[in-house]
Amino acid sequence: MSEVVLSIRDLEKTYPGGVQAVRGVSFDVHQGESVAIIGSSGSGKSTVLRCINRLIEPTGGVIELGGTQINTPRANVNEIRSRIGMVFQSFELFAHLKVLENVTLGLRHVRGMSKSEADKVAMEVLERVDLLERVDAYPGNLSGGQKQRVAIARALAMKPEVILFDEPTSALDPELIGSVLKTIRGLADEGLTMIIVTHEINFARDVADRIVYLDKGLVAEEGPSSIINNPKTERMQRFLASMNEEH
Ligand SMILES: Nc1ncnc2c1ncn2[C@@H]1O[C@H](COP(=O)(O)OP(=O)(O)OP(=O)(O)O)[C@@H](O)[C@H]1O
Ligand SMILES: [Mg+2]
Repeated sequence: MSEVVLSIRDLEKTYPGGVQAVRGVSFDVHQGESVAIIGSSGSGKSTVLRCINRLIEPTGGVIELGGTQINTPRANVNEIRSRIGMVFQSFELFAHLKVLENVTLGLRHVRGMSKSEADKVAMEVLERVDLLERVDAYPGNLSGGQKQRVAIARALAMKPEVILFDEPTSALDPELIGSVLKTIRGLADEGLTMIIVTHEINFARDVADRIVYLDKGLVAEEGPSSIINNPKTERMQRFLASMNEEH
């Protein structure tokens, strides 16, 4: 098996109000692997991603990136965020910046690239997400699917060691979901290392190398994507059935 990029050990997060959102979660992500995290609302999926990216501080456990612990007071949060990309449900683009500028911002300010170097990298990644013709547009003039692909391009531009996706398609109109899933599937096929939190179960089964099913802040099932069809995973099957009822 290829080397471990990200290792999560006994991760815990109790929020200040006392909610035990994550209660001892462990899993590894290997080089080139795509791991899908599924589970009901409130099971702790976003909390896990936010701890990994240091948007919030875990209350217990160890997170290692490339063999080095990153949840320590001494770890440099900006450096961690430049090594771990994140794509949110709500895009989080800068409305006053053009598409190209949204993508070059981190390259210039975090990576210290010149404008021409940053523009070159940005054009490359915008081509990969099929947005070359929209580089001069402002986010307000893009479809939701295009906005999300800009956010993906922005994450890719930094050449992160792993990208975290938190329900990247759940804010999109149904007809726009396909283009974003296609982009993410392409990245998985290229061997990008990623964790994707998703309610798109078919996508998880078809694209992810491994599934982690969270229930009430714990890993209740973990295995190759074929476990989605395994009747022995009873609790997960009940969750999957409840998802089908919703649709
Ligand atoms: N900032 C916060 N302060 C207090 N409690 C929180 C906070 N954020 C999340 N929680 C609680 O932690 C638990 C896990 O939330 P989390 O957002 O990680 O779930 P999730 O699996 O991502 O759910 P969803 O599918 O709805 O996005 C929930 O009970 C939630 O109410
Ligand atoms: Mg969430």
